[in-house]
Amino acid sequence: MKIWSLLLFIMTTLAAAHAAVSHAEFGKLPDGSPVTIYTLKSPKIEMRVMTFGARVVSITTPDRNGKKANIVLGYDKLEDYVKDNKTYFGVVPGRYANRIANGKFTLDGKEYHLSVNEGTNTLHGGKEGFDRRNWIGKEVPGGVEFTLVSPDGDQGFPGKLTAHVRYTLQGDAVTIHYSATTDKPTVVNLTNHAYFNLSGAGSGSILNEKLTIYADKFTPVNSSLIPTGEIKSVAGTPFDFTRPETIGARINANDEQLKLAHGYDQNWVLHGKMGTLHPAARVYDPASGRVLQEETTEPGVQFYTGNFLDGTFSGPNGRYDFRTGLCLETQHFPDSPNHPSFPSSELRPGQTYSSETRWSFAVE
Ligand code: GLA
Repeated sequence: MKIWSLLLFIMTTLAAAHAAVSHAEFGKLPDGSPVTIYTLKSPKIEMRVMTFGARVVSITTPDRNGKKANIVLGYDKLEDYVKDNKTYFGVVPGRYANRIANGKFTLDGKEYHLSVNEGTNTLHGGKEGFDRRNWIGKEVPGGVEFTLVSPDGDQGFPGKLTAHVRYTLQGDAVTIHYSATTDKPTVVNLTNHAYFNLSGAGSGSILNEKLTIYADKFTPVNSSLIPTGEIKSVAGTPFDFTRPETIGARINANDEQLKLAHGYDQNWVLHGKMGTLHPAARVYDPASGRVLQEETTEPGVQFYTGNFLDGTFSGPNGRYDFRTGLCLETQHFPDSPNHPSFPSSELRPGQTYSSETRWSFAVE
């Protein structure tokens, strides 16, 4: 009896314990700089992240029968990541995730002009966003912390920004903690751009997965996917995910917002209180039984159904076609620097930007 309780105690402690962490060189960038890949292992989950783009490379979890698969879209070779400057697989976009309209904003009466990389807009921080940088990695208990110093004027943004992204794995949950400081007033919005496919990366469409978003409002967009400023109720629209809904059930509905984005690619306004961890979304995959629960301290989440994926890129387990991955990017609302009514994304000297998102994995 005593032995059993001891065993049970050891097993519970192990499950809750910090992940084991190791690292290795993943390859070299065209300029010769080495990229390090970190492996975080807990009893059930293995996650790999790398310095190039501070990005998630893979997350391997068991399905309901214990069969393991990688559930985020990616590649097995560094050169494929270097070639792909379209998808943002697993990256930390920055300095400002999502779009800034016409590549400009005004702060303290001064207009700033940014690097423009999508039509007339700035997407994910501009041409040389944080996703193209080789961050500095350092092992921490149960994970890794990446650091990037973005100089004053980088892609047009004011202020020297020092950013940290820390990934830790504990039991069945991955925590991502973002922080940043600046030496001049600036704007900042960091997230993770992992594309999940709970049936396995490269296994096909995500349209059969069931989604809940803990929000009853969203921010509609114009034809260049910039929020119009309206905060709209999801009630009676295909944007209502307040109860679990199959992603594909309404995605081709005759709805202006869905047509503009060729699927879902909007920001939802989360119920929870900004600054404290609250539920953002839950995905359930009936085929594998896998469940992803996402929590965040952020006010919004961008739900994107991989509408720009077109089969150009492939991973070790298959082609990344239209709508074969889904993103749930926790964030401040897109284009906030141009919408005074949205929660502010400004950061001033002396303040610390701090944001956290947690992904918990389970099966049902
Ligand atoms: C975000 C955007 C999408 C798209 C992807 C990257 O999710 O909202 O419109 O740009 O990034 O392809």
